Amino acid sequence: MAQIHLRPDWHIAERDATSQSAYHSRRRFIRKLGLGGIAATTLGVGGGLATGGITTGDPGRSTGDPDGPLDTIPENAPRTGLPATRNADYVVPERPQTSRLAASSYNNYYEFISQGDLKTVWPLTGDYNPFPHTIEVRGLVEEKTTFDVDDLIRQIGIEERICRFRCVEAWSMTIPWIGFPLAGLIAACKPLSKATHVRFYSVDRPKEMPGIRNARWFDFPYYEALRMDEATNELAFVATGMYGEPLPKQNGSPLRLVLPWKYGYKGAKAISRIEFVDEQPPTFWQDLFPKEYGFLSNVNPNLPHPRWTQAQERHFLDEDRIERIPTQLFNGYAGLVGHLYPDEPTEFRRGVVR
Ligand code: MTE
Repeated sequence: MAQIHLRPDWHIAERDATSQSAYHSRRRFIRKLGLGGIAATTLGVGGGLATGGITTGDPGRSTGDPDGPLDTIPENAPRTGLPATRNADYVVPERPQTSRLAASSYNNYYEFISQGDLKTVWPLTGDYNPFPHTIEVRGLVEEKTTFDVDDLIRQIGIEERICRFRCVEAWSMTIPWIGFPLAGLIAACKPLSKATHVRFYSVDRPKEMPGIRNARWFDFPYYEALRMDEATNELAFVATGMYGEPLPKQNGSPLRLVLPWKYGYKGAKAISRIEFVDEQPPTFWQDLFPKEYGFLSNVNPNLPHPRWTQAQERHFLDEDRIERIPTQLFNGYAGLVGHLYPDEPTEFRRGVVR
């Protein structure tokens, strides 16, 4: 499994980089996931990564540190429209929701994590102040615009959707998101008809994000992209909250993409810029590892990752309970998105990266 072995010069003990309680709960998670051995020595979205460059004096902690994973919801986050009405079209009848604590304690967010496979992002978010926040709209649009998050919430309106969430690392959650359809945001951007794709860029604030400060392998900001027909599909969602509350910082405050039929890494967090273009753009993980991550990245049990199977997933019920379940094509959303991908393999194929 290990691909790139890191030099020991940057290594610090995990317990130096995380609080004791976070450390212990993370150890439990990692043990259950069976990832402990691989993740500390590999680089990549699946199997953990290392940005390297961390120094023992700078584990990324700050004086304004949160007390726990639910203490990271910014006080000045807009609460317009809360509590949001549940949209009954988007529910997951076959499995229970993942606990709120698990969903906000076990995260992938490389702007914060500085080492190895750390999933305990929340203790590192103390310096990050997501608000006030605006989103720049550029490229092939009628007019350059800048949106305020609260204005978007008011303009488009918010709802709750319970969705399956599947990471390429083969863990999954079931999460009640709050937000608005991405199609509403795209319409507000007024793209020109010649735009074929839309790009998303995440916040890039090294002073507030220790993972960016210490990055050796990555070139931030994080960037992702979709085809226009994907971005305007009804399933594509912009989350501003989860579990009835605004998003915690580690889950992507102020707003993030939720694309339930794609692997989690397509769901860029803390989006600050949107750009419309007329050719397929590069994406963060594809640029880093083109042999492992493609542009489409649809959840597909028939296409194993080069280093592990995608046929099953470890579904989090809560911090202590994880169930192993089969992975579904398009993560169970074939009825909504299957028509977009006539070439998606429906039989087992090794060595295909899409
Ligand atoms: N967005 C940004 N800006 N930076 C990241 O590191 N990680 C991605 C995605 N969005 C990431 C990101 C990956 S790999 C996953 S699996 C999901 O966020 C994790 O979302 P969660 O932490 O809310 O579970």
